[in-house]
Amino acid sequence: MTGSRTINSVDEMRDFAREMYKYIKPGDVIALNGELGAGKTLFVKAFCKAAGYDGSSSPTFAIVNSYPGEYTIYHFDFYRIKKSSELLDIGIEEYLADGDAVSFIEWAELFADVLPQRRIEISIKVIGETSREVSVEQK
Ligand SMILES: Nc1ncnc2c1ncn2[C@@H]1O[C@H](COP(=O)(O)OP(=O)(O)OP(=O)(O)O)[C@@H](O)[C@H]1O
Ligand SMILES: [Mg+2]
Repeated sequence: MTGSRTINSVDEMRDFAREMYKYIKPGDVIALNGELGAGKTLFVKAFCKAAGYDGSSSPTFAIVNSYPGEYTIYHFDFYRIKKSSELLDIGIEEYLADGDAVSFIEWAELFADVLPQRRIEISIKVIGETSREVSVEQK
């Protein structure tokens, strides 16, 4: 599951999210990195669909969205955060320590100091209009 792969279309990104659904377990924290429009939100939505959740939205205007289901999914976006105290104030550490939930964090690298040491890092690099280089690392 770890390593790099090339993804050539949105459909292949959805296939990748379905594969990751088999691998990711409650308690996992997934740091998602990659430029604007790389496909971080699309990946989380596809993951939620694979996990049987319907209607997940992007957390652009909230720091975190949570989706109930087989396990709770927390979906963070750090893009608009200005300082880590905003995250500590909402109790980020408690969210990320929740052993019954899976957390996805878009733009995680912006505040790497609040992330647990043990996490899965997914980096998405745009290499063409619909092609992406995706790397998965277990830290
Ligand atoms: N292979 C691909 N994987 C993912 N998205 C793709 C792919 N090819 C094209 N796209 C398009 O790229 C866009 C990805 O948008 P998305 O909102 O998921 O990016 P993001 O990384 O969350 O950006 P942001 O940093 O703004 O939150 C979508 O419009 C999607 O249709
Ligand atoms: Mg996004």
